[in-house]
Amino acid sequence: MTLSGNNGLVWPSISQQMHLGWWKGDLASLKSEGADLQTLLGNLTRPVFVVLKDGKLYLTNQADISFDLNNRPAGGFPLMGFAAPTILENLGDSSFCQDHGLRYAYVGGSMAHGISSPEIAIALGRSGMVGFIGAAGDSPAKVEKAILQMKSLKEPVPFGFNLIHSPNEKGLEDVIVDLYLKHGVRLIEASAFLAMSLPLVRYRVTGIHEDANGRIVTPNKVIAKVSRVEVASKFFAPPPEKMLQKLVEAGFITEHQAKLATRIPVAQDLTSEADSGGHTDNRPAVSLHPTMVALKNRMQEEHKYEMPLRVGFGGGTGTPASAAAAFAMGAAYLVVGSAHQACVESGTSDAARLMLANAGQADIAMAPAGDMFEMGVTVQVLKRGTMFAMRAQKLYELFRKYDSIESLPAADRQMLEKTIFQDSIDNIWKGTADFFRQRDPSQLEKAEQDPHHKMALVFRWYLGLSPRWAVAGEESRKVDYQIWCGPAMGAFNEWAKGSFFEKPENRKVVDVAMNLLYGAALELRLTQLRNQGLKFANHLSNVAPKTLDQINSLI
Ligand SMILES: Cc1cc2nc3c(=O)[nH]c(=O)nc-3n(C[C@H](O)[C@H](O)[C@H](O)COP(=O)(O)O)c2cc1C
Repeated sequence: MTLSGNNGLVWPSISQQMHLGWWKGDLASLKSEGADLQTLLGNLTRPVFVVLKDGKLYLTNQADISFDLNNRPAGGFPLMGFAAPTILENLGDSSFCQDHGLRYAYVGGSMAHGISSPEIAIALGRSGMVGFIGAAGDSPAKVEKAILQMKSLKEPVPFGFNLIHSPNEKGLEDVIVDLYLKHGVRLIEASAFLAMSLPLVRYRVTGIHEDANGRIVTPNKVIAKVSRVEVASKFFAPPPEKMLQKLVEAGFITEHQAKLATRIPVAQDLTSEADSGGHTDNRPAVSLHPTMVALKNRMQEEHKYEMPLRVGFGGGTGTPASAAAAFAMGAAYLVVGSAHQACVESGTSDAARLMLANAGQADIAMAPAGDMFEMGVTVQVLKRGTMFAMRAQKLYELFRKYDSIESLPAADRQMLEKTIFQDSIDNIWKGTADFFRQRDPSQLEKAEQDPHHKMALVFRWYLGLSPRWAVAGEESRKVDYQIWCGPAMGAFNEWAKGSFFEKPENRKVVDVAMNLLYGAALELRLTQLRNQGLKFANHLSNVAPKTLDQINSLI
């Protein structure tokens, strides 16, 4: 039997299997009109019951249920489906929220140059989530200023800072870790690591002790972000013994603390970072995440940590459906980047925000990365409206083909100076040398001996400044903006079409976050009902953007 014409609720065929039990209750509570159905489905604090009466399907959230199919109660109607309340606080791993003092398992990922700004972290923190402030690419002085801003809040909120692995800038990780320890930054997002570094381990184990019950307490928490299983296994392992010994010898920790540290993972929380904005291995989340979860289970079994390991989900989340998929796959928490960059609180320019708001899913490209240019590492950037990806690729091709600036053909040199650099190579080198004289003089020594390295430093001038032009909204350099961005941006824009979110000025980070969480919960509820054989017309299954007031009235 096929039921239809039921204002969007369709039961394709009814079988005894789909008949769950009997519903009894106030007949006036049974609804079949579109708007009523939307309200019942959208009110996530209440259950939803699907009732068959006189050949027509109804929804209600009140019931007296019996599951004894053989005894139809007086006044009872067949119960054909059921969805439990879907509470936003229950999405993800509740222990993650408990450990980090959050209401929702939602994390704003670090975005370099302060694009994930203190303003993003404050807004998320005030709403029961946590945001990481993007420290990569910024001077220690700017990072310290942001720490002081967060520390001076009258009403403290949860927050964290990024610790990015910086193999090219000797000593930088140590300086940043010193700042975090000095100011009591208790949570970091550790990213771009291929192996453990001493500063990272120092941060993690500083202050480690046992409480009165002999349980290990680690004041400093690390959320690792990785896209490779080999690297994940290093974060889920205890800190390397050699590094612990070095820290003991240097007087940073005691022998006893080193011993305690062998019983903890470097990171209890690890984000499996799939195809995303910025550095990415472009792996699909649906294949990467289960692998990381399997690793977590193996390593928990092996090490039997007191603090159980957890895996969060990062990369590709720009819609409620993708957030729902993450939680359906068992994500302990969600990490969002690209969609936040387009929000009014982000540290980028209005010009960049507008370009992001116009991006489609295919408007992105991989381009050579500034920090690991010589190694051929790439980052995912916005392609539409900027020529950065093409120009950066040209630089990499020239770097591969020629071993010094002097060996560049005249035409290429001219093109570089006229089009890409918009300045003479001599001038660029002068500025570059001044920069490294302050920051890392060893680079200059290397460049003197190796002209190919000098070439890399000059080319990295462009790669290093292009994100700053975007952040500053430098009008004359618009075509050179390097804007890190993943496919989630285009997905968000597509979902936002026709709604208040379409305008960049309406994208507030908490509104975006709550829409992703609320929408995920609603998607999961619809999926529960779909899995029981119910079909929805488009207007019922369309999880559209809602204002914060609308969401608050439904949760
Ligand atoms: C503009 C931008 C800058 C980023 N910079 C960093 C960074 O400095 N450090 C880091 O760990 N991750 C960085 N990321 C990655 C994000 O923190 C986050 O993990 C990722 O964006 C999630 O995937 P999504 O872009 O699909 O939302 C950046 C992402 C973007 C979009």
